[in-house]
Amino acid sequence: MPVSRETFLSNVWRDGIFKDKVLFCTGGAGTICSMQVRAFVALGGNACITGRNPEKTEKGAADIASVRPGAKVIGIVADVRDMKAMDAAAERCAAELGSIDFAIAGAAGNFLAPMSQLSSNAFKTVMEIDTLGSFHTAKAVLPYLVQSVQKHKNSGKAQPTGTGGRIIFISASFHFRGQPLQAHVMAAKAAVDQISSSVAMEYGPHGITSNVITPGPIAGTEGMERLSKSDERSVKESKAKIPVGRWGEVKEIADATVFLFSEAGSYVNGHVLVVDGGQWRTTGAD
Ligand code: HXC
Repeated sequence: MPVSRETFLSNVWRDGIFKDKVLFCTGGAGTICSMQVRAFVALGGNACITGRNPEKTEKGAADIASVRPGAKVIGIVADVRDMKAMDAAAERCAAELGSIDFAIAGAAGNFLAPMSQLSSNAFKTVMEIDTLGSFHTAKAVLPYLVQSVQKHKNSGKAQPTGTGGRIIFISASFHFRGQPLQAHVMAAKAAVDQISSSVAMEYGPHGITSNVITPGPIAGTEGMERLSKSDERSVKESKAKIPVGRWGEVKEIADATVFLFSEAGSYVNGHVLVVDGGQWRTTGAD
């Protein structure tokens, strides 16, 4: 079969691949999610981010919007633990920006605690933010993602890049091997991975893809501030245990996101994409 060079050009990271498309992202003012949304907006899309903190959410939206003149980015204050609030946020996003074509379930909570000091409420809090929050996010946006795919099908156009109907869940790799002080997060994120699988199975027939990204140790994030020691020796030891010998950059998570949202990722569904320099295969997180 003859294949032209053009077939392989501009499937990913082409200017405008997300033009007229809308991304809904929970926890969108956080370091990792903010960069994921920024990449989407830089490549032509508009976005809505949600968060619990009004100032942080407003500022986050304004910062993201500044990446491209004319970009529309809305910040909505909503707690992922509240289904009604997530439904209302999705409704407002679609009303103000016209649709929801892509989604990221990114809101998360974490802290280090041994099981002996983990109260029932502490465990429940992380389960509610990470697991229930991801479930609520999916429930709120999936009807719009289905509409997005349907609208495209009805237009009769060929499948272009950035069509829509894609959701990404942000998880972690601690539960692949086991990690002390993270019982709450391991339980919560293992469940998040399975929610994504369920979406992949049940919504694949509607043209939706659902995948998980698990960031490894990413420099400059709140997660790293909370979970790792910052003295020079500990940082050096931590990096030495990672096969590529360094911590990741937030842009590397954004790049994985653009890949999964782009036409190049169109056949990836129900996958867990670990972006951690190979860390989990060696020592696990530190
Ligand atoms: C033990 C703790 C604790 C700690 C809180 N709790 N911090 N227990 N050790 N360090 C307990 C509290 O005592 C309380 O239990 C219960 O948890 C709920 O705490 P609240 O403060 O009332 O909850 P809330 O205000 O909802 O805050 C949620 C939170 C908080 C998760 C505790 O840290 C938060 O809002 N985090 C959001 C931001 C965040 O964590 N970002 C990092 C994500 S990084 P009691 O029994 O006293 O009532 C990430 C990394 C992934 O996810 C992996 C990457 C490699």
